[in-house]
Amino acid sequence: MKRDILVLGIESSCDETAAAVVRNGREVLSNVISSQIEIHTLYGGVVPEIASRKHIEKINLVIREALQNADVTLEQIDVISVTYGPGLVGALLVGVGAAKAIAYAAHKPLVGVHHIEGHIAANYIEHPALEPPFLCLVVSGGHTHLVQVQEYNRFEIIGRTHDDAAGEAFDKVARAIGLGYPGGPKIDKLAKEGDPHAIEFPRAKIDGAEFDFSFSGVKSAVLNYLNGCEMKGIQINRADVAASFQQAVVDVLVGRAVAAAEKLDETRIAVAGGVASNSALRAGMQQGCDAAGIELMYPSPVYCTDNAAMIAVQGYYEYMAGTRSGWDLNAVPNLKIGER
Ligand code: KG4
Ligand code: ZN
Repeated sequence: MKRDILVLGIESSCDETAAAVVRNGREVLSNVISSQIEIHTLYGGVVPEIASRKHIEKINLVIREALQNADVTLEQIDVISVTYGPGLVGALLVGVGAAKAIAYAAHKPLVGVHHIEGHIAANYIEHPALEPPFLCLVVSGGHTHLVQVQEYNRFEIIGRTHDDAAGEAFDKVARAIGLGYPGGPKIDKLAKEGDPHAIEFPRAKIDGAEFDFSFSGVKSAVLNYLNGCEMKGIQINRADVAASFQQAVVDVLVGRAVAAAEKLDETRIAVAGGVASNSALRAGMQQGCDAAGIELMYPSPVYCTDNAAMIAVQGYYEYMAGTRSGWDLNAVPNLKIGER
C-alpha cells in the first residue's frame, strides 16, 4: 500500500503568517492563518517592516497550531515546503528561515515554492479531478497572469499585466473613493448596490499582445472622473463608481481568459489569487465559460487569498517531481513563474 505523504507548508510573503498540513497533495488537515490586516489598515496598506516583525512574532505559534490542528507531530511530517518568492524580502525571510531551521533540526527534506504557483495549486484542493494541463487566470494583489499549467511544475505564461495588477487596481480605486484597505472585498460589497453600466470606464487592449493586460488606464480614468466631479461640484455615487470600475476589470479578465482558452484549445479554466473571490468576476467567468463550453473552477475564498495549504499542495507536487532545496535557500523577492 502507498504510504501517505504529509507536507507542512509555510507562507509569509506578504501580510499573512500561515502554516498548514496537507496529506498527499490534496487533503487539508489544518490551515492556520494569522492575518495582519488590522495593523496595516491603520497605514492604508502593507508596511514591509511591520509585516516582518509580525511574522517573526507569530511564525512559531502558527506552525505549532497547524501541527496540533492536524493532530500530527513534527516527526510524522515528510516534507517542509515554504514560499521563497515573490514577495516582500523581509517577510519571506522569516518563513524561509523558520522552514530551514525546522527541516535541518528534524532531518526533513526542504522544498521552496513559488507563491503564485501555490495560488494556482489551491485549485487542486477542492477539485479532485483537476490535473494539468489547464489554463489558469491568476489575479492577486501583486500579479495578473494567464498561465498555461502544462505539468504540476511546468508553466507557460500566455499573458501578463504591463502595469498594475488587478488587485492593486482594486486597492487603489478603493482608497480613492474612501473605502480603505484592503480594497478588493470592499469594492465587491459596495458594487452590489451600484449600476455597473452607470459610467463607461476604459477596457484597455495591448497592441500586438492579445492576452496581456493593463489596469493603470482604468484606475486613472476613475481618479479623473472623481476629480472632475469634485471640480464641478457633482455629488458622486460611490456604489456606481465601484460597480462600473469592477465591471470594466471583469470584462477584460473574462474576455482575455476565454479567448486564450479557445485559442489554446484548453477546455478548463481555473482562477486563482485574492481577486478570484470577487463575486462579479466569478459570475462573469461563469457566463463567459458557459457560452464557450469551457469548464470553470476556482477555490473557496479561504484558499484564494494567501494561505499555506496551497504552498503545501504545490510543495507536494514539487517533492514528487524530485525538487529538493538546499540549506542555502534564500528569499527571491522578484522570482518569476516557472523559474527554478
Ligand atoms: O492573493 P492575495 O491574498 O495576495 C497576493 O498574493 O497579492 O491577494 C490580495 C488581493 C488584494 O489586492 C485584495 O484587494 C484582493 O486580492 N481581493 C479582492 C477580493 N478579495 C481580495 N479583490 C476583489 N474582490 C474581492 N472579493
Ligand atoms: Zn498571494
